[in-house]
Amino acid sequence: MKFDILTLFPDLFHAFLQESILGRAVKRGLVDIKLTDIRSFARGPHRVTDDRPYGGGNGMVMKPGPVYRALQAVDRPKGKSLVVLLTPQGKTFEQSKAWELSRLDQLILICGRYEGVDERIRKGLADMELSIGDYVLSGGELGAMVVIDAVSRLLPGVLGGENSATDDSFEDGLLEYPHYTRPQVFKGKNVPSVLLSGDHEKIRLWRRTESLKRTLERRPDLLKKTKLKQEDEAILTKLLETKKSKE
Ligand code: ADE
Repeated sequence: MKFDILTLFPDLFHAFLQESILGRAVKRGLVDIKLTDIRSFARGPHRVTDDRPYGGGNGMVMKPGPVYRALQAVDRPKGKSLVVLLTPQGKTFEQSKAWELSRLDQLILICGRYEGVDERIRKGLADMELSIGDYVLSGGELGAMVVIDAVSRLLPGVLGGENSATDDSFEDGLLEYPHYTRPQVFKGKNVPSVLLSGDHEKIRLWRRTESLKRTLERRPDLLKKTKLKQEDEAILTKLLETKKSKE
């Protein structure tokens, strides 16, 4: 899959693209990531990319021209391609969206900066607007990294273990169960004995119960959205009964 990043701060991406899982995916040719510096498409001796807002008010607005020209310069091989603008005003990025985007051939990410972007970028150039959460960042760069990371790990071959991505939190609408590794005792705290039992069915059931318990405690909103299996319903009923008896 090809990612194109249009940004005023390409240097922000270098370490991110070289390290860890993504760095390995790039080296192995599983993802191709191209950075385009919007400033090099700005005109005039000062290559200005922002200007004051029409109608007055605080802050500066990202000019549409440099973004438009940068977008025109992006190589678009055949296949499904989408232009996404990162902005706090976009739809919140979720795992389901990551899967949707992972089916594309090319994802072009425009990183907004300043107080905002000219509305004609939003309306005329972007197919979709995404936000990574209800907070305001200094620009869309961190958002672009979040999207690239979440999407890349879903691409075939990027993660080592075949099931690694599908086991993640959110994949079945639930938070993940707790994980443990060596040592067996750490600062006086033991690994739950069931995990040492070697009984695969017991372990599966424990993990499912912990996953449901955690989701119920921390993100009950997720339970409303997800379709639970009969076994899950039974576990959940028990968990709710235990909770009630403690209150
Ligand atoms: N740019 C500024 N804030 C943002 C956010 N929350 N998500 C995506 N892009 C942004």
